Amino acid sequence: MQKLQLEKARAIITGASSGIGQGIAKAFAEAGAAVIVNYRSDEEAADRIVGAIRENGGKAEAIQADVSTPEGCATLFDASDQHFGGLDILVSNAGIQRDAAFTELSIEDWRKVIDVNLTGQFLCAQEAVRRFRKQGHDPDRSPALGKIIFTSSVHQAIPWAGHANYATAKGGVKQLMESMAQELACEKIRVNAIAPGAIKTPINRDAWEDEDTRKALLQLIPYGRVGETEDVANAALWLASDASDYMVGTTLFVDGGMLLYPSFREGG
Ligand code: BGC
Repeated sequence: MQKLQLEKARAIITGASSGIGQGIAKAFAEAGAAVIVNYRSDEEAADRIVGAIRENGGKAEAIQADVSTPEGCATLFDASDQHFGGLDILVSNAGIQRDAAFTELSIEDWRKVIDVNLTGQFLCAQEAVRRFRKQGHDPDRSPALGKIIFTSSVHQAIPWAGHANYATAKGGVKQLMESMAQELACEKIRVNAIAPGAIKTPINRDAWEDEDTRKALLQLIPYGRVGETEDVANAALWLASDASDYMVGTTLFVDGGMLLYPSFREGG
């Protein structure tokens, strides 16, 4: 089988020191891309990922930045310019959860989640578009001027009690992604999203680590297993490659069927 290639591509992956982000960084590097591994606080983890990529013959740099600020985002693009001479792909992935019952949800936790999961995605994507334009199109590199992939969630569509801040941010990411795609496709900038379901990462450890909660979680997944970061990384890789050149403004759900209202299999 022909493997998807990102030869000569330069990519920024935000929130890449753990979970889905680290999976995407490794998959992209393996496909030949030079990657900026962004982290906010866990320098050691980011260094480990960069070390593993380099050991494998890949190119990577660990860069600290808080993506919820314009300055933080700019740092990443400056680093990509400096180390790799430009940028072809942004994977705007950094995300957090601060869960609480609706009336217990503090304004701080509401703001924090919107700042990182929605405003952070907006800021990095805005900077990416500016840089793509400045860089100009080189059709020998790719038919696209640039590619942006947002990490959304099944919760851009599935309401989530106890997580109003998170679901609201992800619903916003859907509209941000589609509005950008509509506006920018004529410039050959491809904007798409991946929407993971329950993937085995630190963000949802409570849901899969313990046997009872894992059983309850599996009730929500028709395909019968919790997802792995590779499942999402493979989808991101395809969206980032030119094999998906006609994909514009689409959300790829990578969720084992979570979006299919599994409780309706026997009900309704
Ligand atoms: C959340 C996880 C959750 C999954 C499915 C993701 O977006 O970050 O905590 O397990 O959606 O509900």
